[in-house]
Amino acid sequence: MVFDILTLFPEFFSSTVRHGVVGRAAASGLIEVNARSLRDYTEDRHRTTDDYPYGGGHGMVMKVEPVVKGIEALKGSGGPANVVLTTPQGRLFSQPLAEELASKGRLIIVCGRYEGYDERIREFADYEISIGDYVLSGGEIPALVMIDAVSRLVPGVLGEPESAKSDSFSRGLLEYPQYTRPEEFRGMRVPEVLLSGNHAEIEKWRRKESIRRTCLRRPDLLEKADIANGDRAFLEEMIKKGGPGSS
Ligand code: ADE
Repeated sequence: MVFDILTLFPEFFSSTVRHGVVGRAAASGLIEVNARSLRDYTEDRHRTTDDYPYGGGHGMVMKVEPVVKGIEALKGSGGPANVVLTTPQGRLFSQPLAEELASKGRLIIVCGRYEGYDERIREFADYEISIGDYVLSGGEIPALVMIDAVSRLVPGVLGEPESAKSDSFSRGLLEYPQYTRPEEFRGMRVPEVLLSGNHAEIEKWRRKESIRRTCLRRPDLLEKADIANGDRAFLEEMIKKGGPGSS
């Protein structure tokens, strides 16, 4: 998976590709992160990437030429690529969208800065993506979020093929509670079933806790979740007994 980034701050990306899961994936060649400066695609002496908005108003607007030249230069080398614009006006980033992007093989991610893009830039993008309903000062952090979430889905990046699947959101449910040693901490004990060695019971408990947690914290996810008949019965029983706080 190749990520080509067009940004005013290429240094933003150099430390990410040295650490953790993404760092190991880059070191082993499973992913590639190349950050290019948008200023490389300017032609004036001041290497200008922004300008005043037509019609007046506050703030600066990202110029169309450097962005489009950058996209075209990157598209002209390497394999086919999909272009992503980071913008708070975009489609909300999610696990299914991360999966869709992971299937593309190569992404060119344009990091917005200033008050916004010259509208004509949008003609050159396949995706406009927002990472949440808040405004950041640039698209570098959203790009890093996407690189991380997408890289985890590239085959071979996570040690166990199962671990990406059981993560929160993969089946549309939140992950079950996890514990590690010690068995007791300040009077709080690890649930007995996890110490029982009975794997079938452990699986059942985890599934129920996953549903309980989703019901409690993100009931909106339940509508779309991958829920079997047995799970539905548990959900109904839980609601009858007084909600997700009950056993
Ligand atoms: N640029 C500024 N805010 C953003 C957001 N929430 N998502 C993506 N890009 C952005």
